[in-house]
Amino acid sequence: MIQVGLFGASGYTGFELVKLLHRHPEVALRFITSRSQAGQSLAHLYPAGPDLPLIAPENAPLTDVDLVFLCLPHAAGAPTAVAALEAGARVVDLSADFRLKSAADYTHWYGVEHPAPNLLPEALYGLSEFVRDQLPDARLVANPGCYPTSILLALQPALAVGAAGGAIIADAKSGVSGAGRLPRQNTHFVEVAGNFSPYNIGRSHRHLPEMEQAMAQWSKSAPPLIFSPHLLPVPRGILSTVYMPLKKGWSEPTLRTLYEEIYSSEPFIRVLPAGELATLAHVVNSNRCVIGLSVAAETLILTSAIDNLVKGAAGQAVQNMNLMFGFEEQTGLV
Ligand SMILES: NC(=O)c1ccc[n+]([C@@H]2O[C@H](COP(=O)([O-])OP(=O)(O)OC[C@H]3O[C@@H](n4cnc5c(N)ncnc54)[C@H](OP(=O)(O)O)[C@@H]3O)[C@@H](O)[C@H]2O)c1
Repeated sequence: MIQVGLFGASGYTGFELVKLLHRHPEVALRFITSRSQAGQSLAHLYPAGPDLPLIAPENAPLTDVDLVFLCLPHAAGAPTAVAALEAGARVVDLSADFRLKSAADYTHWYGVEHPAPNLLPEALYGLSEFVRDQLPDARLVANPGCYPTSILLALQPALAVGAAGGAIIADAKSGVSGAGRLPRQNTHFVEVAGNFSPYNIGRSHRHLPEMEQAMAQWSKSAPPLIFSPHLLPVPRGILSTVYMPLKKGWSEPTLRTLYEEIYSSEPFIRVLPAGELATLAHVVNSNRCVIGLSVAAETLILTSAIDNLVKGAAGQAVQNMNLMFGFEEQTGLV
């Protein structure tokens, strides 16, 4: 049993994570924080949630916990990561603060100086399936972004064997919870319902450098990525359709065998049978990623679906925690 603290329980990823941790048999949830709701019960904020007290972040007893989860906006959580590590706790950060290795890239994409650049070299990019061996020793884990999780899990096998013959296109759609709980005009019900909008298309979304950084680790000659996200008028879920031009010699049966070999023993990844396409209904409210695969016009077409709040955030964070602390990887997850 480990002692765990969580910052940002009033937000969407924080609430999702509290629900998972509250029923996790190896976890004692020592504290959960909110600035705006301190003193209230979480059940007051989310009626379906557990009746747990929210405390002010400055009152969090960092020396009492083995692990801290940060479910805060980027740049807001990094000082807490520093304090938690100094207090002897390990950290899983769900924000983008520790995902990019370069502080200059972070400033370019996020528009602020990195609050703790000295921690970037040791931060582990926690795409669980590909860093399973490193997680037991990690002090600081950068939980991947939601879009990157869906796209990188789809790309990895074909990219790592060098099948990509040109620029890869990822056309992705996310439910509105991906934008967080704070109301904004573009995520307001009236703007979103009955509508369907692209945003930050091409090479302008903040998740692009995170994906290309991972791709460069898997393939020395990784092609550029064109990433076009869309806002889908559903509460949760991400569906990414990824197009990879193939080098000569790669056929659908060969690629299917490759994907099945790599993912057959993965508890949370399912390669769909030929002809079946990934949908949100395969994954919502689960930690699963489902991947459909086909080839047309010498292009590998991958459909990849996850729940942005689970495999794309809180579920993958629990998966990482399980691997960090030597628990069975599937504990507390479906
Ligand atoms: N939503 C997703 O699908 C998703 C997926 C993967 C990763 N993420 C990342 O996870 C993090 C949290 O996302 P979210 O969707 O849960 O956001 P959210 O719903 O807006 O919640 C943010 C939380 O942080 C607190 N907070 C806001 N501003 C703060 C500040 N300046 N300092 C300290 N605390 C602050 C808020 O509570 P109080 O104001 O009450 O303190 C709230 O609990 C973000 O970095 C996001 O990029 C989100």
